[in-house]
Amino acid sequence: MTAKLISGNEIAKQIREELAQEVTQLKEKYGVVPGLVTILVGQNAASVSYVTAKQKTSKELGFYSIQDNQPETLSEEDLLKLIDGYNKDPKIHGILIETKILYTIDPKKDVDGFHPVNVGKLMIGEANYLPCTPAGIQQLLIRSGVKTDGAEVVVVGRSNIVGKPIANILLQKQKGANATVTICHTGTKDMSFHTRRADILIVAAGKPKAVTADMVKEGAVVIDVGVNRIGMTPEGKAKLCGDVDFEGVKEKVSLITPVPGGVGPMTITMLMLNTVKAAKLAAGVKS
Ligand SMILES: NC(=O)c1ccc[n+]([C@@H]2O[C@H](COP(=O)([O-])OP(=O)(O)OC[C@H]3O[C@@H](n4cnc5c(N)ncnc54)[C@H](OP(=O)(O)O)[C@@H]3O)[C@@H](O)[C@H]2O)c1
Repeated sequence: MTAKLISGNEIAKQIREELAQEVTQLKEKYGVVPGLVTILVGQNAASVSYVTAKQKTSKELGFYSIQDNQPETLSEEDLLKLIDGYNKDPKIHGILIETKILYTIDPKKDVDGFHPVNVGKLMIGEANYLPCTPAGIQQLLIRSGVKTDGAEVVVVGRSNIVGKPIANILLQKQKGANATVTICHTGTKDMSFHTRRADILIVAAGKPKAVTADMVKEGAVVIDVGVNRIGMTPEGKAKLCGDVDFEGVKEKVSLITPVPGGVGPMTITMLMLNTVKAAKLAAGVKS
């Protein structure tokens, strides 16, 4: 068996087209424009490029979009004032920030879904905003026709941004979920015992080839979240690979995400979806 690819590029494009239509309707019918601000303190190169990509996408979708770059020297007091201003600004529906100050943003504007209030809501099945990468994984499964109901899902990795939330999302008694979920990590004894049982295997370990062909079940669905830099292309671009030995595993499973072009494109797309949702919640617009 050779696996079909789950294309994150295509599914992300589909969702972005749906969102662009929704944004147009929100403007025309309700005069609402989703607003997103990204606050960047200091100049971390990786953060700058990620923030730029988020800004570009939000503008393409017709959002009101602000990139607020602040110097490394900004005092905590001034940062708190800045956040308070955005918390109160009715034109802003989503606030992104990469520091522990995260806890001071209004959970209603936490479109990353990382605020403890939103983490708790996810846990009890009442989430407004699902964290973006796990939400993207769920959409890849749903839109590829993968049945999660009753499936054995094994997640490799227990980070707060991928492993734990995707396990929680798929565990809920809800549509596109209702799975039996196992989480593996570096303390797991005999990881293969678990991964070989998986109908759906989600790997977020941050280690190239953490999962090889002998560790997967014939016909399984494999979602590879990993992004590992393994050198440079002759054109000077970073060469990427996932956490799964793609060449070996694709011969055994039914569906697999490539790296790049699998989970990656979904993350920013789901951030845009959360921001549209925040704008609708703020305006009292029902979906
Ligand atoms: N595509 C995207 O949009 C996107 C978004 C986020 C992350 N990522 C990528 O996804 C990967 C994971 O990210 P993360 O933030 O979740 O990573 P992380 O915080 O480093 O967590 C990795 C997890 O994997 C577990 N682990 C590591 N090696 C393992 C092994 N050999 N066997 C079993 N478990 C193992 C660790 O276990 P312990 O807890 O025991 O240490 C930890 O729980 C990274 O490559 C990252 O770049 C991609």
